[in-house]
Amino acid sequence: MPKAWIVGNWKMNLSPSESSRLASDLKKMIPTKLLSEIDVSVCPGFAALAAVQQVLSGSGIAWGAQNVFWEPKGAYTGEVSARDLSEFGCRYTLVGHSERRQYFHETDATVAKKQKSLLAAGIHPIVCIGETQDERDRGDTETVVLRQLTHGLDGLRADDASRVVVAYEPVWAIGTGRTAHPEEAQAVHTVIRRTLAEMVGPVGEQIPILYGGSATPETIGELIQYPDISGFLVGGASLKAESFVKMIEIVAEIRQ
Ligand code: PGA
Repeated sequence: MPKAWIVGNWKMNLSPSESSRLASDLKKMIPTKLLSEIDVSVCPGFAALAAVQQVLSGSGIAWGAQNVFWEPKGAYTGEVSARDLSEFGCRYTLVGHSERRQYFHETDATVAKKQKSLLAAGIHPIVCIGETQDERDRGDTETVVLRQLTHGLDGLRADDASRVVVAYEPVWAIGTGRTAHPEEAQAVHTVIRRTLAEMVGPVGEQIPILYGGSATPETIGELIQYPDISGFLVGGASLKAESFVKMIEIVAEIRQ
């Protein structure tokens, strides 16, 4: 069975010193044995990357950024490139999170450029997709999710596909306490899985598809039993070491 995944998205919630403290707590609390069974990583804010890198280096817990700009360098005031992120040892980086689409007008086209720049720099993109409540109510979930997937991964080559991660995060579930029903999530994951296989062939079957949106210790036990749910992208519940570690333990136990 492929490894399960747990990725913490700290958003803009923790300062560098708070991020450093949480990273140290995770390092102390997560049993090394579990890190060989589960791919565990955290995504602090840009300003905390150096501190988190220092704490987590050699720990078996990976880290990554929450965003990237697609050009490698140049006159782009305020931006951070994939080349910069690789100097901070980022293994992963989120792209196209719904908060970036909503507040910073990111589009599928910019997502495509971002994931390509990450792959070129040797960083695994975690491409986030998901429908809003309105889109779900209109019956457009599949159309929206597949548009975001195929356009966001436009031009993906089969030999790069094994380095991509997809996160399905229904917007209505993010930060609301309304976790998707496991069957609802699995149904969308299945369509994503099928589409990935159509896009890149058999390697598409291996691409991890994470679920995100109010994933908590209380809700993930059932979700992880579904075959196309490879793990979780966790916001709120990743901000406390106890709940994040609990989620890792739950997944490890069920996946044994
Ligand atoms: P949440 O956030 O777990 O707080 O719902 C998930 C995310 O936005 O990645």
